[in-house]
Amino acid sequence: MTDTPPRPGTKPARPHFSSGPCAKPPGWSPERLATGSLGRSHRSKLGKARLQYCIDLMREMLALPDTHRIGIVPGSDTGAFEMAMWTMLGARPVTTLAWESFGEGWVTDAVKQLKLDPNVIRADYGQLPDLGQVDWSNDVLFTWNGTTSGVRVPDGDWIADDREGLSFADATSAMFAYDLPWDKIDVATFSWQKVLGGEGGHGVLILGPRAVERLETYTPAWPLPKVFRLVSKGALAEGVFKGETINTPSMLAVEDAIFALEWAKSEGGLAGLIRRSNANAAALDAIVAARPWLGHLASDAASRSTTSVCLTVEGADEALIKKMASLLEAEDAAYDVASYRDAPPGLRIWCGATVNTADIEALGPWLDWAYASAKAA
Ligand SMILES: Cc1ncc(COP(=O)(O)O)c(C=O)c1O
Repeated sequence: MTDTPPRPGTKPARPHFSSGPCAKPPGWSPERLATGSLGRSHRSKLGKARLQYCIDLMREMLALPDTHRIGIVPGSDTGAFEMAMWTMLGARPVTTLAWESFGEGWVTDAVKQLKLDPNVIRADYGQLPDLGQVDWSNDVLFTWNGTTSGVRVPDGDWIADDREGLSFADATSAMFAYDLPWDKIDVATFSWQKVLGGEGGHGVLILGPRAVERLETYTPAWPLPKVFRLVSKGALAEGVFKGETINTPSMLAVEDAIFALEWAKSEGGLAGLIRRSNANAAALDAIVAARPWLGHLASDAASRSTTSVCLTVEGADEALIKKMASLLEAEDAAYDVASYRDAPPGLRIWCGATVNTADIEALGPWLDWAYASAKAA
């Protein structure tokens, strides 16, 4: 038998560090959700009012300008992003950027499903591609925050003001964590399950005026399933952006999102959420800086995520990471911290706003314990 190091004294009060679905907002419990809209038609006065309230709160918490529409759609972030791809692409050449698994997924959609022959600009895990290479006469697809590599675009400065193409941002792990430059974004998508700690199932679709113009003036060559249809008789289906969902939503998921958004408001809205996430990322960074065996997968601090923080572990292979993650889970010290299945073996710690900084701070000694224990095993 090999000696294992002693367990640290303090555990994170909430060991929920998964990068999706992410930790519930502090203080959440199912009893605290409003349930009056459950078991009712989502098209009843009450159902529609709750959906509209959810949309209004999202707009307020994102500081979304009036130029952009925001609506609830089926299929979580994937549904929202694919809805945008299927309804708007094909009108002009396409560039897709990929530096981790989800961006790569949109490349697959564009190449294999839509057969668009896009210009693909790639970078390895931990890096960003050269954003200066992007030709803005194209429609451009990218992931604002690469959840599986912990690399994000640093800002929107690389997005041309006079672009002819549309910018499509999969921003599911960026929304409510960064101050997004809305004038640079024609399409953005996210799911409640990330920074809000909400549920999956629904996606949120944000459209700028140029995206609406595309929808109203262009008809794709391929058939569109009903759940993707945003246009009716040549005009945008405005109801989608007023809580008249295309098909039946989960009102439980909506009520859960409302809880999270009201919590966000009590934390000071977007600025408060960004502050919480930055504090978490800084606390984790201090843990990394103090340990020679831990490092950041994202080499450049300017494009390092403050939500899905991906760490390298010296000498680790998949088996060691699996062991560390299962030891941490068995102790209820940290859940779901192994890197994504397609990413290099390492740890991934969610630092979004619903995580408390004290819990990140308490994690450091547990990482030491799990690393030593896994190596000794
Ligand atoms: C960047 C990114 N895109 C898309 C997805 C898929 O999201 P969903 O499962 O909510 O559809 C994820 C999920 O982690 C993601 O991180």
